[in-house]
Amino acid sequence: MAEMDFKCFVSQTHSVGETEKIGADFGRYLLEKGEKTAFIAMYGDLGAGKTAFIRGLSSSVTPGASVPSPTYTIVNEYDDGKNRLYHFDMYRIETEDDLESIGFYDYSDGMIAAEWCEKIPYALPETYYKVEIGKTGANDRTVTVRKTGDDDK
Ligand SMILES: Nc1ncnc2c1ncn2[C@@H]1O[C@H](COP(=O)(O)OP(=O)(O)O)[C@@H](O)[C@H]1O
Ligand SMILES: [Mg+2]
Repeated sequence: MAEMDFKCFVSQTHSVGETEKIGADFGRYLLEKGEKTAFIAMYGDLGAGKTAFIRGLSSSVTPGASVPSPTYTIVNEYDDGKNRLYHFDMYRIETEDDLESIGFYDYSDGMIAAEWCEKIPYALPETYYKVEIGKTGANDRTVTVRKTGDDDK
């Protein structure tokens, strides 16, 4: 497939596998660009496919790691010896104290993919990828990726 540009990307998917594939393509894109500490802010309702997207992301960034679904923990760490990916689920985060108590601000040595970033708008870095997944049918989703806060490159 032609080189994809995830600075501004929108696609329809019709199965969980297709959403995972976009996540996997996105992961390869980030590694090719050397963005080993990218922040990926995930938005979308329960069941939209945020975890599915991150499962795909992990399959290319940290192959071999298994991504639990649904998640019961706030942070899971995936590491294949080459890359590290921290998978956060902010659903239960209510205050910045909660964030600090899980050590959120200390996770700087890997990629971060965080579900429910609606909960932590004040904690987002200056530059990040915003991934929104919207349900448009039982198995249909609109996946949007946009890079924020940086117009260079
Ligand atoms: N096109 C699609 N993309 C992603 N998930 C889909 C799609 N169609 C159906 N699904 C289903 O929707 C659910 C998404 O779950 P999950 O990834 O855990 O969502 P979230 O993390 O956003 O709550 C799964 O049961 C998956 O099989
Ligand atoms: Mg989820």
